[in-house]
Amino acid sequence: MKRELAQNEKTKLSRRSFLKGLSSIFLGAAVSGSSYSFLIERFWIETKTINLSFDRLPSVFSGTKIVQISDLHLGHFYSKKNLSDLVKRVNRLKPDILCFTGDLVEDGIEMLEECTPLLQKFRAPLGKFAIVGNHDFRSGQTSNVIDTLSKSGFNVLINKNAYVKKNGHKIYFAGLDDMMFGVPDIKKSLLGIPKENFTIMLAHEPDFADAVAKYPVDLQLSGHSHGGQIKIPFFGPIFTPDGAVNYFEGLKTIQGSNLRLYTNRGIGTTFLPFRFNCRPEITVFQIDCEQK
Ligand SMILES: [Fe+2]
Repeated sequence: MKRELAQNEKTKLSRRSFLKGLSSIFLGAAVSGSSYSFLIERFWIETKTINLSFDRLPSVFSGTKIVQISDLHLGHFYSKKNLSDLVKRVNRLKPDILCFTGDLVEDGIEMLEECTPLLQKFRAPLGKFAIVGNHDFRSGQTSNVIDTLSKSGFNVLINKNAYVKKNGHKIYFAGLDDMMFGVPDIKKSLLGIPKENFTIMLAHEPDFADAVAKYPVDLQLSGHSHGGQIKIPFFGPIFTPDGAVNYFEGLKTIQGSNLRLYTNRGIGTTFLPFRFNCRPEITVFQIDCEQK
């Protein structure tokens, strides 16, 4: 009897130790996973190079390097020092053209003035183009964001376009107002662009591509999704926001059209200051003229 009781106690103890060990493993994994997501991956920028050929691209633009950055979310665990490092990193890539696809701020409106000299340091000899995103609107100071970008040398394209000219040939950059808080107008954004001209559309929310595909646009650059920000291996993102439900990451060709869409994972974070299995991204597009 005594021996049985002792045996039961032993079994209970070993079960308790097993459960204790298991919870320590889970707790350890959660703590180290959170620390990794907060301290390491959030700043571990991936520079992705994408080679794209277009039949409508004038050959004089072959080899042009377009760099895209998106979703800085200044103020939400994204500091002036982080921005300064980003400027150096982007400039080292020597872009010909720089595109910023929205969400400059999260809650860092008061940082805009001191960040202007840094934003001015982004170098792109053929042009810097920008749009605003839903978080710029949510800050309640969209015009302040637009002014900052303009003062920093960005051509802010809200339902309008601009061109880059080389040896008498033009390519166009069009930009849309935000889908969630603004009044986007595709027709207005493309107004005056000859149908046959090579055109890149900047639209914060990638799902716009389904509508943009009905127009003569060659490439759409978007952000907004942050790639999901937290991606479970073999499952995918735990959440993608409205406007990034159909498309949330990478290169896609929109069905039934020639439009290619690229969704950049962004630089900063929103809501939770974590990234897991979803590194921040700078995209380098090396564009070429397709051989006919
Ligand atoms: Fe964003």
